[in-house]
Amino acid sequence: MPSLPQSVKTYREQRRGKWAKFVHYMSKPSSHVIIAIDGPAGAGKSTAAQRLACLLGFRYVDSGAMYRAVGWLVHACALPLEEPAAILGCLERTPVSLTFHNGTLEIWMAGQCVTSHLRSEAVARAASAVATMPGVRQMITAQLRHIGCQADVVMEGRDIGTVVFPDATIKFFLDASLQVRGQRRMQEMHQVGNTTTLGQVVEAMARRDSQDRARTVAPLVQSPEAHTIDTTDLTVDEVVQIMLSEIRRALPREEG
Ligand code: DC
Repeated sequence: MPSLPQSVKTYREQRRGKWAKFVHYMSKPSSHVIIAIDGPAGAGKSTAAQRLACLLGFRYVDSGAMYRAVGWLVHACALPLEEPAAILGCLERTPVSLTFHNGTLEIWMAGQCVTSHLRSEAVARAASAVATMPGVRQMITAQLRHIGCQADVVMEGRDIGTVVFPDATIKFFLDASLQVRGQRRMQEMHQVGNTTTLGQVVEAMARRDSQDRARTVAPLVQSPEAHTIDTTDLTVDEVVQIMLSEIRRALPREEG
């Protein structure tokens, strides 16, 4: 893991003090802390959520990876996207297990860890399509709620604060300009050897955005209680700092 900036390190050190008190206070078995982070692709959710989870000592759950895992299954089994019943049937027959490695979710399908196979464009396309299917959403939502009942989590996605955990401890909605989101996604793709152009990335992203926002089941919408952060001109560290101060404000008891 790359070394963290000083300001973030300071927060990590504070975990022994104020943050440890906060974590302890909120970690009673009956009330796990749920930090919900929603927003469109490329808004910077994953990096900020991972860093926040690491600082607080919480589990990090990327709910999009679960939709991508179903997309991977569809792709691997060559299932037609126009046949939701066949997809759901296949999903029901496939043994799925979820484990945590260093606090991060790993997804196993039919005994194979698929986590490292979820970033291709084909899988992303299939994930966006299966995410419109009510049966698939129900299964994934149930699994996400189960995870949230077991431990304190930072969970990111599109409907975490609206559908999965409407009573989340605190909710954030991250957004950024389409151009900046496209640039971020393109950099990620280039890092894994994919040489897609910015124009192609932006176009695919805009298409998936409108699919995510327009679907009838659990569309991407902002919860009225969510703290909005426009990450267009912010560094990850700045986003995390804003989140930490909102978390602190939401828990005035820990301020004294
Ligand atoms: O965040 P991502 O790009 O890995 O998500 C993959 C797809 O899953 C994307 O089309 C949005 C969808 N998704 C969703 O509908 N609900 C979530 N909670 C998370 C992701």
